[in-house]
Amino acid sequence: MAQHKLILDGDYGIDDSIAALYLCRRSDVEILAVGSVHGNATAAAAARNAISVLDLGGRPDVPVAVGAGRPMAQAVSISSMVHGDDGLGGVAPSPPPDREPVPTPAAVQLIETVRSHPGECTVVATGPLTNLALAVLLDPDVPSLVAKVVIMGGTVDHPGNVGPYAEANIAHDPEAAQLVLGADWPVTQVGLDVTMPTWLGPAELARVEASTTPTGRFVWGILQHYLAFYAARHGRHGCPVHDPSAALVALDPSLAQWFEAPVDVELRSLRNRGMLVIDRRELAASERTEERPPVKIVIALDSRRLIDILLDGLLGD
Ligand code: BDR
Ligand code: CA
Repeated sequence: MAQHKLILDGDYGIDDSIAALYLCRRSDVEILAVGSVHGNATAAAAARNAISVLDLGGRPDVPVAVGAGRPMAQAVSISSMVHGDDGLGGVAPSPPPDREPVPTPAAVQLIETVRSHPGECTVVATGPLTNLALAVLLDPDVPSLVAKVVIMGGTVDHPGNVGPYAEANIAHDPEAAQLVLGADWPVTQVGLDVTMPTWLGPAELARVEASTTPTGRFVWGILQHYLAFYAARHGRHGCPVHDPSAALVALDPSLAQWFEAPVDVELRSLRNRGMLVIDRRELAASERTEERPPVKIVIALDSRRLIDILLDGLLGD
């Protein structure tokens, strides 16, 4: 029996797809449902990519729902510079002709899945948090029925990747992130502080390049655009492991160290919109002006072990 019942929600770009492929290959993981969201690609393209990846990962029966096509309170912006026009570096495969997204919106699918498995589901969110926020708005009981939520998003001390302080998934929909980080469910935040140093360098990439399996060839193919982007931005060969880090922490929290604090999202500042505001003060509960639940903020990862687990899982037979 699967040890982990997961609902995946993401913007199925390059690293979301690698995370999903890894999860597909774990026999102790049941993927109950997948939702797509705007971000790295349009929500429609992200759903197509998710379908292709689930097919390649041997999970063609997992329902994929198209989610929010735009953020709650700002214009949509698609990160094609990082992930290519199709979200998969220009080499997105066509999904199998008989596979379509389900007609239900992703937020509704999330609610229905959680309600059919009360207390059992872990939500792994690797894109903007619009669908999760919509689910909370539509069904305020949902947070109490979820085992935990693990998000890739935000940063504490590491510089932002879409501005001095903001990380892309939060900046793509700050209002949604504010709702999700304030809802009463156990959230683990895996952000740039730990995903940037979890870096696939030349030795790890050589392992991927040498792989002859269909999964290995696919991963190597979609990584090319990502590697070109990071080479141009950071001047070195390699790329960070963003979304797979969140997926792996969801399965094995012993990979991570964290502290707990309430987290707000800056919504008003012109320069810092989307920045996480972590309240690290030692305040008594009675001194806090607003009740926000503590979030587990990951500050260290066993990156070496995480990358080994990821590559062994992805590249094995
Ligand atoms: C996050 O933004 C997206 O580009 C990646 O898929 C990842 O989820 C990193 O900031
Ligand atoms: Ca993502």
